[in-house]
Amino acid sequence: MTIKDFIPSKYTHQIQQGKVTYKAPSNIALVKYWGKKADQIPANPSISFTLDACATTTTISYSKMNAKSNDFSFELLFDGEPKDDFRPKIEIFFSRIEPYLPFLKEFYLKIETSNSFPHSSGIASSASGMAALALGLMHIEKEINPAITDEHFNRKASFLARLGSGSACRSVEGDLIQWGSHNGTEGSSDLYAIKYPYAVHKVFQKYHDTILLVDKGQKQVSSTIGHKLMHNHPFAEQRFDQAHENLSKLKSILASGNLNDFIRIVESEALTLHAMMMTSIPYFILMKPNTLEIINRIWAFRASSGTHLCFTLDAGANVHVLYPENEKEVVYQFIKDELVAFCEKGQYICDRIGFGAKKV
Ligand code: DP6
Repeated sequence: MTIKDFIPSKYTHQIQQGKVTYKAPSNIALVKYWGKKADQIPANPSISFTLDACATTTTISYSKMNAKSNDFSFELLFDGEPKDDFRPKIEIFFSRIEPYLPFLKEFYLKIETSNSFPHSSGIASSASGMAALALGLMHIEKEINPAITDEHFNRKASFLARLGSGSACRSVEGDLIQWGSHNGTEGSSDLYAIKYPYAVHKVFQKYHDTILLVDKGQKQVSSTIGHKLMHNHPFAEQRFDQAHENLSKLKSILASGNLNDFIRIVESEALTLHAMMMTSIPYFILMKPNTLEIINRIWAFRASSGTHLCFTLDAGANVHVLYPENEKEVVYQFIKDELVAFCEKGQYICDRIGFGAKKV
């Protein structure tokens, strides 16, 4: 498919107003997206577990205006309060997606949004937020073009969400999602994410992710800037090649359920992501001392207990502890006994693999 396939032909129905609510989950990448080209095209493919508990719920109330306006007409409420600092991001998103949703300037939109996780948890809401918004907008498009199939609906929602935030395109469906063109993955695309199309061992069908909130403050360097620093990065090409290779290697690991090999790739990806940050110009460090303390304790516990917990990181100091269902008691006990002490105010979130966004 090409971007032309997402430009609608003539709409068949007229609508005046309506209201829709979508709840979209966050996701955690196993192979990381870090670096992008123009128009939100990823520099390398990535794969993620869709989460369940960490989610954004967004309601859009839409009403047709008497005449098409020159600007986007919308108001934005976050937890019931007007949220003007989110407006510029939404304006940019709308201007990027307008060619694919030409009705946008004909409607007044009231957008009410809230997250299941605390606002200052250091957990980015852009993935779940942009996915929920894209799905709500797709609902409006389906009202004026009921012929849209479910497959096209989800694919276009992912395509639109990507234009808001790259990782958001992986938050429409579940449970294992791949984004970015990869030779070994049939149907993979830079334009939208797909459900991972190959066999997945049952051990990965129920996986836990306990998110340790190490630092809830504002990040020193945003993902947007971090992605840009991959341009002219001394190790960029090797890193992009490595992501392709890791995805190829994951194919047999995901099928066989080989947890030791899984851990090696997932932890290496997390540390490589942060290594890219530490070796860009300018360089920066998002991990905190407690991030490293937690990683070392995970390694020591894994060696002494023979369990299969591992960690991954996103662009921040928080640690995602991943572990299979059949080890959940012993690992959770370890987290409470040893790791929670390194979380800011002892805070953490118990999440697990989830199955995608839902209309509420
Ligand atoms: C480290 O999707 O937040 O979480 O496209 O600029 O919005 P933008 O970036 P974003 O980057 C996410 C980076 C990551 C890795 C990943 O989720 O694959």
